[in-house]
Amino acid sequence: MSVLELKEIYKIFGSGHGHIALKNINLGLDKGEFLAIMGSSGSGKTTLMNVASTVMKASSGKVFINGLDTEHLTEEELAILRREKIGFVFQDFRLIDNLNVKENIILPLVFNGLKVDEIHNKLNKIKDILNLEEIIKKKSIYELSGGQKQKIAIARAIIHEPVILFADEPTGKLDSNLANNIMNLLQEINKNLHMSIIMVTHNSLSASFCDRVLFLRDGEIYNEIYNGEEKINFHKRILDVVAFLGGNTYDL
Ligand SMILES: Nc1ncnc2c1ncn2[C@@H]1O[C@H](COP(=O)(O)OP(=O)(O)OP(=O)(O)O)[C@@H](O)[C@H]1O
Ligand SMILES: [Mg+2]
Repeated sequence: MSVLELKEIYKIFGSGHGHIALKNINLGLDKGEFLAIMGSSGSGKTTLMNVASTVMKASSGKVFINGLDTEHLTEEELAILRREKIGFVFQDFRLIDNLNVKENIILPLVFNGLKVDEIHNKLNKIKDILNLEEIIKKKSIYELSGGQKQKIAIARAIIHEPVILFADEPTGKLDSNLANNIMNLLQEINKNLHMSIIMVTHNSLSASFCDRVLFLRDGEIYNEIYNGEEKINFHKRILDVVAFLGGNTYDL
């Protein structure tokens, strides 16, 4: 079953002929699938994430989340859908500095109106899954390293058990070691919790953790490749497409 389905999506910015940021995108994300989106700067990756997560309305085309047609939902209904079914992770973590580590993590549960003991249970569960025992003791966000901040941001993004996790360049601000740690974590979340993940990345090694890589070029799907048995081989195949698109891995 698809947890996300995009049908003939177009996104045009500006008036008149405008700028076509997305052109006839057809895409399905299976339950439990881990999908990477690659493509050069300006190719439409973030726009695709915004439209797919209902943060931004498409100019035309349809977005189904968990089988639900989102087209005629009101802004309020969309906000509830996002709060309950979707998690977001960003390159710049977007933690709230004047809340402590625990408060940052439980924020979605507070917004969803859960009772204190339910919040407690879910926090304990996420603490075990992500091994947060030590980090969670730290009071302030300022005491965390970049990798730790992203770990907390991921905890916050999944604590309400969303159907889909959207991650826009989650390893973009981390060095390669930390990026690998975060990718291992996302892979565990994907495999153990069967959470569907859609992730934008410029990093071919990060993309090689995924089940499938989709390449955008000028707002269109240019190519997609599937992960087979061997991870090293998959990484090489990703690099081949990246080279063909005319970039090295870090300027894609
Ligand atoms: N709000 C907006 N208004 C007008 N044009 C926009 C808007 N958002 C994006 N665009 C344009 O749409 C195109 C795609 O932008 P998008 O941010 O999706 O690219 P991207 O692939 O995420 O790039 P990057 O790798 O740099 O993050 C770009 O040409 C951009 O200038
Ligand atoms: Mg972007």
